[in-house]
Amino acid sequence: TVGNSTNIFWHECPVGKSERQKLLNQKGCVVWITGLSGSGKSTLACSLNRELYSKGKLSYVLDGDNLRHGLNKDLGFKVEDRTENIRRVGEVAKLFADSGLICIASLISPYRKDRDACRALLPESFIEVFMNMPLEVCEARDAKGLYKLARAGKITGFTGIDDPYEPPLKCEIELSYKDGVCPTPVAMAGKVVSYLEEKG
Ligand code: PPS
Repeated sequence: TVGNSTNIFWHECPVGKSERQKLLNQKGCVVWITGLSGSGKSTLACSLNRELYSKGKLSYVLDGDNLRHGLNKDLGFKVEDRTENIRRVGEVAKLFADSGLICIASLISPYRKDRDACRALLPESFIEVFMNMPLEVCEARDAKGLYKLARAGKITGFTGIDDPYEPPLKCEIELSYKDGVCPTPVAMAGKVVSYLEEKG
């Protein structure tokens, strides 16, 4: 029995992860970007995606907002829904990494235990990137006008306003706002690329 299924079996395919990695000349992994809405997750994801492409490395972006248009369109923002959202994306990211790709997942993923559960799926190749930007900065940007709606009580359960964000206690990369300046997307992507190169 696995989960709610009984009488299920695992089938191996003839071409495995190491063959795929050899073909692509790269190692599959998950770069998990977490942080508040407006902290720059999607911008970093795109910048990293482009930078890796220019270096001949294949990556694919799983963006929370985008996935909610399809795979996760049945989910809202209640605790259980966010947990299920992260669980699904963690499983999809694992498949992408297994395919040999550098999977870039960018989701608020506000709860530590949910992120840790994703890490546990791929402990050797999970790189957690924390966008440590102050709420005031994210709120001042308010690109989608959602903070304004949340402050006006028109959206409830908005992360950082009336829903929690639990920062990582330990992560591979922390990108932070310093002395009133946000690092540029190119600088942030560069930091992640250097980390990936260092780890082979
Ligand atoms: S989560 O918490 O990880 O399940 O969220 P995620 O799938 O990344 O989706 C976040 C985007 O949804 C929009 N949005 C909200 N965010 C937070 N709280 C509430 N209540 C909410 N309602 C809608 C918002 O555009 C988020 O996008 P980003 O890119 O993070 O700004």
